[in-house]
Amino acid sequence: MSLPIEKPLSDDLSREVARRRTFAIISHPDAGKTTLTEKLLLYSGAVHLAGAVQARSHQRAAKSDWMELEQARGISITSTALQFDYQGVRVNLLDTPGHQDFSEDTYRTLMAVDSAVMVLDSAKGIEPQTKKLFAVCRKRNIPIMTFINKMDQPGRYPFDLLEEIEQTLGMTAVPFNWPIGEGAGFQGLYDLQEPQVLFFQRTLHNQRRAPMRVETFPHPSLAETLGEAYGPLQEEIALLTGAGTKFDRDRFLAGQLTPVFFGSALTNFGVEPFLNAFLHLAPPPGPRRSSEGLVPPTESKFSGFVFKIQANMDPQHRDRMAFLRIVSGRFEKDMMVYHARLDRKIRMTRPHRLFGRDRETIEEAYPGDVVGLVNPGLFIIGDTLCSGSPLSFDAIPQFPPECFGVLRSQDLTKQKQFQKGLQQLEEEGVMQVFYSPDHVRREPVLAAVGELQFDVVASRLESEYGVKTLVERMSFVLARWVSGDPDALAGIYWPQDTRRLVDREGRMVMLFGSERLLAYCMKEYPALKFQLREEMGASNSASPIS
Ligand code: G4P
Repeated sequence: MSLPIEKPLSDDLSREVARRRTFAIISHPDAGKTTLTEKLLLYSGAVHLAGAVQARSHQRAAKSDWMELEQARGISITSTALQFDYQGVRVNLLDTPGHQDFSEDTYRTLMAVDSAVMVLDSAKGIEPQTKKLFAVCRKRNIPIMTFINKMDQPGRYPFDLLEEIEQTLGMTAVPFNWPIGEGAGFQGLYDLQEPQVLFFQRTLHNQRRAPMRVETFPHPSLAETLGEAYGPLQEEIALLTGAGTKFDRDRFLAGQLTPVFFGSALTNFGVEPFLNAFLHLAPPPGPRRSSEGLVPPTESKFSGFVFKIQANMDPQHRDRMAFLRIVSGRFEKDMMVYHARLDRKIRMTRPHRLFGRDRETIEEAYPGDVVGLVNPGLFIIGDTLCSGSPLSFDAIPQFPPECFGVLRSQDLTKQKQFQKGLQQLEEEGVMQVFYSPDHVRREPVLAAVGELQFDVVASRLESEYGVKTLVERMSFVLARWVSGDPDALAGIYWPQDTRRLVDREGRMVMLFGSERLLAYCMKEYPALKFQLREEMGASNSASPIS
């Protein structure tokens, strides 16, 4: 009897890896990340109308910020994943929250991408949040493409913006196109890759693709068409093509050089050339560091890691979704995989493809894809899953909390829901929860990176668990896990402006009112250890960001 011969996977796998692009858009709030996301979906054909406020209610799927609180405040808090096909390429766009209080969520998401698009407001250039997010990309050497947005409004001189990118971020900026006219006079782009001019026309409410007309350059009638913009454009092109820096793919892939594109996401000017260039320039999934060395995406054994947990993405499906980034091999529905943290095999039932709030069951997925796994408490952020020999991927970054507050339930009859909600939100990484050692579980203290996270906790406890709560802010600014000889610890009289608490596992945590106070205590009690959570070997294999 002959054994069944397995079909070789490697060709299929290599082809599927080569056609994947997984990226995130990073920006300071208001630079236009949401608008650009919508327009990329419009141009890819994933949605047919975009941008206009009145269209949004019919197109919920295209909206990436979907929680009630986000809608009420007009900010983007949670990250979502959007997958779509364009010109034979499977694009995974991982949306990131723009608000700085949720930067930790963004940092985790950036661990799951192969490249990033940095959106700048042409009038503002590099803003504080841009810098922070860029720092994470740099840490991982993520290649970055830059989209300078809002060219339809008066902005800064394009050369100044390039210089600012170079000076502030230390990255060579190489323009791929150049704006023609500015503000209300913005007509189109000069394509620096091919000598041609792209003219765009606005559409009603900017909802549909902007018609684009391409003209060769130089062209006899162009001076007439461009009017006043013609002279400056000629001079600028001479400058750019003469002394301009050349694009170097290796430096781009190493995160040292950024191709720069100009445009206006709102009016759709320049979105299409940007999307096409993105597909061409952005790298497919690459190898990833693990405890067992580099894992190439074409490795036939499946592996992946969980970078995000999100509960109740859709009120109709009251469950939790773990976002799994596939690193290598082919993922199949119902396959058995090894769960490194639990040290056991589990079945991959009900994997989903995600599109914002919408989801559909999938049969297979490949490296670069983000698969939504319905999570019955099996996964936490940082978990590694694999089908070969056990391994674990690099840790997911974690921020030390800086905001603290006492959470009070307004409805004492709902203790069970209150505790359940608290535990689930903590597992999602929304915040950490501490307790007073004397009144365990009575009066939880929330610890978060940003204050807005408290509002999210309160709002989600109410809408998802039916419990009204109030958060009372505390004045502490940092927390340390303190350990040492139990007798010595018991005898300590801690100074004012500190608070002794315990975490869910009963380990002692001290809150401090200032850095100086922490330094004083460390000096006063040299035999004790003052550690960040990750230094304690916390269960979710996190590493601190300095
Ligand atoms: P974000 O996700 O980065 O926070 O920014 P978002 O896309 O929400 O854009 C912030 C504001 O900037 C929005 O205006 C949006 O319409 C506007 N905007 C985005 N791209 C462009 C552009 O290319 N040109 C111009 N002129 N404006 C742009 P808003 O008034 O705050 O919101 P909305 O009422 O338009 O939704």
